[in-house]
Formats: sequence, structure tokens, C-alpha cells
Amino acid sequence: MIKPLRKAVLPVGGLGTRFLPATKAMPKEMLPVVDKPLIQYAIDEARAAGIEEFCLVTARGKDNLIDYFDAAPELEHTLRERGKTSTLAALEASSMNAGSLVAVRQNMPLGLGHAIWCARSFIGDDPFAILLPDDIVKSEKSCIAQLAEVYRKTGGNVVAVNEVPREMTKQYGVLATGEDDGRLVEVKGLVEKPEPADAPSNLTIIGRYVLTAEVLKPLSQLRTGVGGEVQLTDAMAQLIGKQPFHGLRYEGTRFDCGSKIGFLEAQIAMSIERPDLKDDVRAFLKKYV
Ligand code: UTP
Repeated sequence: MIKPLRKAVLPVGGLGTRFLPATKAMPKEMLPVVDKPLIQYAIDEARAAGIEEFCLVTARGKDNLIDYFDAAPELEHTLRERGKTSTLAALEASSMNAGSLVAVRQNMPLGLGHAIWCARSFIGDDPFAILLPDDIVKSEKSCIAQLAEVYRKTGGNVVAVNEVPREMTKQYGVLATGEDDGRLVEVKGLVEKPEPADAPSNLTIIGRYVLTAEVLKPLSQLRTGVGGEVQLTDAMAQLIGKQPFHGLRYEGTRFDCGSKIGFLEAQIAMSIERPDLKDDVRAFLKKYV
């Protein structure tokens, strides 16, 4: 039986060194793209897939991520008194049903695999989504909803994949592929950050996954891999052959907001279609380029 997908884990325990000094006293995941913090994009995407239970894997200095999802009675009261109904509506997305958000501490940033293992009590025996909030996926249908749709048919594990130029495989988890219908591809092997010459393909994993709780077993060994980190890719590789495992060429555009250039591109892409901003954005882009 394929269990329903109801849970999402959002690892936010990283140091965000690429955005220093901005991230010295503020979590990277609170950086806004236009007027929403990165974390909000990830939560909205998960909610669009019917997910309503969330676990943030946090670290020291990241507490305002939790405050962000709390009620803000004084602010709401003031906005209501002033008749600011559209601003009130914008606030609504950042509220959580009581008890539907939990946070666990990672203690030490030992890698993405370690962050997921820290959420083991929340995951229990259930399938779960992972969304890395650094990645924004702009799409008609939520990227996690696309993965969930595949998961409901195939069961097992499904990851969102992108084709990249060979020279970029060193930045990603890379698939060794089996059957491939041009959209869905069977995963036969996984390698984290291979040199281009050693990469089994140019299909790479982005920050969106639907996994079974089975991945917690290999993760619990806390074996370190590339870069001395506990790699999620290495643990996922242990499931291949034991459970269905697919990569989905999702429909949408991914912005790597963990990098400066991806973050800047996202600002433009997310503002240029907004009715309240598009004319001004186009005008100033013309001015600068
Ligand atoms: P990154 O590789 O982007 O690392 O992590 P980072 O520390 O956030 O940023 P830089 O490279 O120093 O600028 C990818 C995702 O995995 C989470 C991060 O929070 C981010 O969402 N992560 C990474 C953890 O939660 N814990 C870790 O130990 C490592």
C-alpha cells in the first residue's frame, strides 16, 4: 500500500556563508525575494501539494524563522483597525495551524543527510517531502505536487531533476539512469558531486525530494562522504534496487537562491510578471542594460 504524503522537512541549519555579511545575524531563509522570504515560497509549494505538517531543522541564530510562522495579534489588530485588508491577507500565508509546525535543532551543521536524520522523530514511518528553501521553483503546478503525483503511482522515492552542462556536475547529486521516457527516469545509481569525467550522466538533483522513511536507516550510520559531510545522496543510493526510485524532469524553472546570481535572477523573474511591479521593473531594467 502506498502511504499518503502529509509531511515535509525543511532543512534550514546551514551557515549561509555565501551571503555574509547579510546572514551574520539573519537566517538565509528569511532573505526576501520581492516581498516573501525564501522559506515562505517553500511552505506555499508544499501546501499546494496538500502537505500540512512541517518540520524545520534549525540551528543557533535561526529562531526568527519560527517566530515568522507565529500569530501576530497586535499587528493584525492594527491592520484591521486601519482597514488594510490586502496587507492582512498577505500575512495569512505566514500563519500555521496550531501544532502543525515543529522545529528540531541540528546542533552542528554536519551536512544535509545529518539534517534529515535530525528530523527522524517527526518522520516516524511516514513518507515525507524535503524542500531546500534555497531553491525556488517557479511553475504552474507546485514542483512537490508534481513529485507527489508520481509518488502516488510508483511509490518509493522520487527526486526532481535538471539537466546541467557537464562541467557543473561537481555541484550536485548526479543520477546513473535506467529506463527513461523523457520525463520520468529510473534511478540506477547516485553519486554526490562527481568530477565531470566521472559523472554517470548530466541529470542532477535539485532541492526537492519525496522519500520513504527507509532512508533513515542508512542515515543513522552518520557516515561522512564528499566534503566530510553526511550526504543525503549516499543514503538514498542505498535504497536503489530495494524500492522504486525515480527522477522527474519537473515542469518549471528553478532558481538557486543559495547563490548570489541565482538570488538576483529570482528577484527579476518573480517581479517582472507581477501586475503591481512589472511596468516599473521593465523600465528600470532597460535603464541599466
Ligand atoms: P548549502 O549547501 O547551501 O549550505 O545547504 P549553507 O550552509 O546553507 O550555505 P553556504 O554554502 O554556506 O552559503 C543546502 C541546504 O541544506 C541545509 C541548508 O540550510 C540549506 O537549506 N543544510 C546544510 C542544513 O540544514 N544542515 C547542514 O548541515 C547543511
